Amino acid sequence: MAKKPILFSGLQPTGDLHIGNYLGAVKNWVQLQNSGKYQMFIFIADLHALTGNQSGDDLRKNIMGVATELLAAGIDPKKTTLFVQSHVSGHADLAWVFNCVTPMSELERMTQYKDKSARQAKNVNVGLFDYPVLQVADILLYHGEVVPVGEDQVQHVELTRDCVRWFNKKYGEYFSAPKPLLTEIPRVMSLVEPTSKMSKSHGEKAYIALADEPLVIEKKVMKAVTASEGGAKSPGAQNLLELFRHFGNVKQYQEYVKAEKDGSIRYGDLKKDLSKAIAEEFKDFRLKRKEYLGSHGVVADILIDGAHRAQKVADKTMKEVRRRVGLR
Ligand code: ADP
Ligand code: TRP
Repeated sequence: MAKKPILFSGLQPTGDLHIGNYLGAVKNWVQLQNSGKYQMFIFIADLHALTGNQSGDDLRKNIMGVATELLAAGIDPKKTTLFVQSHVSGHADLAWVFNCVTPMSELERMTQYKDKSARQAKNVNVGLFDYPVLQVADILLYHGEVVPVGEDQVQHVELTRDCVRWFNKKYGEYFSAPKPLLTEIPRVMSLVEPTSKMSKSHGEKAYIALADEPLVIEKKVMKAVTASEGGAKSPGAQNLLELFRHFGNVKQYQEYVKAEKDGSIRYGDLKKDLSKAIAEEFKDFRLKRKEYLGSHGVVADILIDGAHRAQKVADKTMKEVRRRVGLR
């Protein structure tokens, strides 16, 4: 039987999962996992999170929080190796090797680095600059072939492809270039600032968390910005319609699209229906999350088991990399 392609992806433990993460990445992970077509690795990028502003206590809490939410969203530890980055040795070591084949100028181009430097202007640390190389190492430590992510991460997967070339040129053919995999909605926009992407780092009102209770969802959606500027199509309204296309029923969606075109749309109605649809979609998630929150030990055991499985793969790669670069 042909070997299944290796799927590798992950996210930072920076807070609650939101519908941007879900539609851009997590939902896809669960579907691809359940298709049975891939060898699945999903990880929690805690070393990456050190580049931000979180305290140690918050990071510790968020690692378990994201693990809990991934499980509640349908990541199944029987089908997927789910682990925490810092539990496995090799990520930072391999990042160093790739640091030494990556030109500075390539990292200076990275859009996410520019965005994040602007958002955390008082903390533009070397880690933030180097973060894409750590991401390269994450993927290649497991020989990831398919990397399902949201649009903002595509540039980092492209960098991984370049790093493969630079490494192989210097040390001989070893790594293969991975491909990004996008969803139908690779970029969900912020509720309060609909020209930028929905993100945990833009404040609670900007996003809908998967764990939000129905009343909270309604409150946030009702306040979402839909006003247009200078007669142009409103990006906020487009975003809500996109969300409705995903969460609502097809017939209602078509009616709203028509009403938007002929100008008869009532955004208050769209918002109410959208809130209901989102609340319904994550009903099961909310229940499962509460169950997992009550069994901390179960989640911890899953992560320990995942780390053991991941470490075996990482060790094999690092052994070969050390040999090739001359470190033993
Ligand atoms: P955040 O910006 O909220 O901190 P992350 O950077 O942790 O989110 O992203 C985790 C995953 O979710 C990545 O694959 C990313 O591309 C995807 N993602 C994040 N925000 C969005 C969004 N608004 N729309 C689509 N995908 C997103
Ligand atoms: N940079 C990704 C994000 O912010 C998280 C991440 C780190 C990742 N390493 C990765 C995603 C490797 C896919 C593959 O969402």
